[in-house]
Amino acid sequence: MADQTPTLLRGRLLSFKSAPGGPDDTEAFTYVEDGAVLMQNGKIAAQGQYEDLLNQFPDSTARIVDHRPHLILPGFIDTHIHFPQAQVIASWADQLLDWLNDYTFPAEMRFADKAHGDRIALEFFDALVAHGTTTAVAYCSSHPASVDAYFEEAQRRGMLMLGGKTMMDRNAPAPLCDTAQSSYDDSKALIDAWHGRGRAHYVITPRFAITSTPQQLEAAGTLLKEHPDCHLQTHINENHNEIALTRELYPDAAHYLGVYESFGLLGSKTLLGHCIHMTGSEMQIMRETGSVAVFCPTSNLFLGSGLFDKAGLESAGIRTAIATDVGGGTSYSMLRTLDEGYKILQLQRQRLHPLASFYWATRGNAEALSLAGRIGTLDKGTDADLVVLNARATGPMALRMETVETLSEELFVLQTLGDDRAVVETYAAGRPLKT
Ligand code: GUN
Ligand code: ZN
Repeated sequence: MADQTPTLLRGRLLSFKSAPGGPDDTEAFTYVEDGAVLMQNGKIAAQGQYEDLLNQFPDSTARIVDHRPHLILPGFIDTHIHFPQAQVIASWADQLLDWLNDYTFPAEMRFADKAHGDRIALEFFDALVAHGTTTAVAYCSSHPASVDAYFEEAQRRGMLMLGGKTMMDRNAPAPLCDTAQSSYDDSKALIDAWHGRGRAHYVITPRFAITSTPQQLEAAGTLLKEHPDCHLQTHINENHNEIALTRELYPDAAHYLGVYESFGLLGSKTLLGHCIHMTGSEMQIMRETGSVAVFCPTSNLFLGSGLFDKAGLESAGIRTAIATDVGGGTSYSMLRTLDEGYKILQLQRQRLHPLASFYWATRGNAEALSLAGRIGTLDKGTDADLVVLNARATGPMALRMETVETLSEELFVLQTLGDDRAVVETYAAGRPLKT
């Protein structure tokens, strides 16, 4: 977007420098009460005090958008979501494997039709934007056409999106199954077509060990070796029946993570969804390889999967991220996700401070994706992906805000009571997408 008119957004700025060590860690973030962000050519050209920016750019022809008294943050990042599950969300199922067989696989089969993917992509991206999410990491279906539908829509909106074709060659209906060879060929062609084109990032996507033969996991490992700048995503240790079946299918593996390790799937660009029921050896390998554990709170509650041990994983030196996991997850909102995550951690006597929450959904997730140099902050030179939040968006929120005195309290109101109604605007590459 080279000829974009510069835009100056005025509001209360909040951006993180590091993970807050506690409630009083003011070094971890920057808060500017009367701040401004200057956006130009899709980037953040400057940010800071409003008065300073006006003085710095006296002859600026920038259009000024006054978002006061709202908060301006980096856009939310959702590190695990399923594009073909937009019509699976809110399906009454027992647990993971029944939910997959009864609802998810039939819904994903419809993505063989490109027109269906195109239609769902419109709605899916509308939902992301409405909820303030500017970057997401998605599983598409096993059909290459679904990846085209996904990245085409991302490109139309100028959004930095990650995603890939789900590789699955067994234990699913035939129309969803590829083969080790065809999944390798199709993924490679999609990487060539999409990775690095505009803001698109390709993610090598073997669904999980149950739906892949050893030959297919080997193909995924080969793809990762051939394309080390691509991410890889899969699922692990979400559900007890899933773990038991994986052990039957891979009897020689020392544990579930050993399956992925043996095919070279682990590393700093590997995103492992769920990581709930982890053994000590698995945690050690996670740390050594720098792989990321992705927490999906609304999904873990909805499917009755279990409680993610954030403190345990992080104290073992494991990188973590947080995500919606729609359609096992029940909301596109990262605010709702943080709220449910807070409750899961409460059950384990782990108290997530609101500053840590908002760090996690922005810079923390960007760090987990190794993309913090481009997204997740308000730093000059990074991509102008922003969200504007109103903590008084509803009657109950406004009433509660009457007694709020600190930024942390305001963030906690947003997280506990907020949803898409609290999202005033979403900017991707400097363009307003919500209104
Ligand atoms: N494990 C394998 N596939 C899936 C999926 O689509 N959703 C969730 N939550 N877990 C999975
Ligand atoms: Zn998932």
